Amino acid sequence: MLTRRDVLSLGAAAGLSALVPAFPMPARAETGLRQRAAARGIVFGSMTNAKQIEWPELRQALVRDCAITVPENEMKWGVTQPTPAAPNYAPADRVAAFARQNGLALRGHTAVWYRNLPGWAAEAIAGPDGRRVFEERVRGVVGHFKGQIAEWDVVNEEIEVKDGRDDHRRASPFLKAFGPDYIADAFRLAHEADPEAKLFYNDYGIEYDHRGMNERRAGVLKLLTDLKTAGAPIHGFGIQSHLVSALRFDPALFRAFLAEVADLGLTISLTELDVNDYAFPEAVAIRDQAVADHLKLYLDTALDEKAVRTVVTWGFTDRDTWLNSFSARKDKAPQRPLPLDADLRPKPMWTALAQAFDHAPQRA
Ligand code: XIL
Repeated sequence: MLTRRDVLSLGAAAGLSALVPAFPMPARAETGLRQRAAARGIVFGSMTNAKQIEWPELRQALVRDCAITVPENEMKWGVTQPTPAAPNYAPADRVAAFARQNGLALRGHTAVWYRNLPGWAAEAIAGPDGRRVFEERVRGVVGHFKGQIAEWDVVNEEIEVKDGRDDHRRASPFLKAFGPDYIADAFRLAHEADPEAKLFYNDYGIEYDHRGMNERRAGVLKLLTDLKTAGAPIHGFGIQSHLVSALRFDPALFRAFLAEVADLGLTISLTELDVNDYAFPEAVAIRDQAVADHLKLYLDTALDEKAVRTVVTWGFTDRDTWLNSFSARKDKAPQRPLPLDADLRPKPMWTALAQAFDHAPQRA
């Protein structure tokens, strides 16, 4: 007999036909990434989303390899509250339930971000009600998931050199309305709403020896230092780690930066690891190896710093990656930035992750 629930899940599955391939997952014998990382005191996982967790074989792959997950967009303000009506956390709750039911920890992403900011909120923040709307957002989303989140990206991407400020802070709607101290306030509000969660500032564009990135690193260090000096309850720094095939990675430079962050007493998470392969050749075997090599050098350098405790990829399968819209290849070939291919077969990147964990120094 078909229950209402069956009908609903069949309906959901029908909507997924583009995502779900019709073949079984091959059996896998090697030790999973979750265990390899855990053996060194590192937490490994992947982002997922409410749609992907309906794909049984992908769920199985995530559960096998991951100890932590994070929803792709489901906690962002524009998704939880596209209008001023009460927020809807149901899609994020589905990802949280998947994590809970399968023994995965959860990251929160993200309470405060200048992007994915609903129009009504951008307008309100600039007006007389701004402070209240801002505080309700932080208290609301962090409070809703209280007790469920290991690491919260409280504030995302508030460094922007081009905005011309001496401190390299972004001239975001939040900064314009509340002044630079609002980030410390966001951390205090988040800490009150969920005292157990480890609170992170998260940012991108700091991984390479590249024009602009040196200033971005300086901006981040100043921001983190200011937050610590102000006594804000910040516990960690999230390095997005969207790696880029065209850029030159300088291990010594990046390693020194990690040490400076660690010296502030902060833990470090690599929060959105993937490799944008647009500068690599189209041929799949060559491209996959180049992606793996690029990742391996980065990860070996990062894991050498023991303050790096969590590593999260921005998706797990090439079937569904934001890079195909954010940075499509000129030859139109789909990007191959993640550990599993579109049919959930492990790629050289999976092996590079495994080797990086196997060789990582032991955390206490
Ligand atoms: C991306 C999502 O993957 C896309 O689906 C969405 O359209 C845009 O945002 N930095 C972040 C993430 O902090 O939230 C972004 O995620 C990728 C860049």
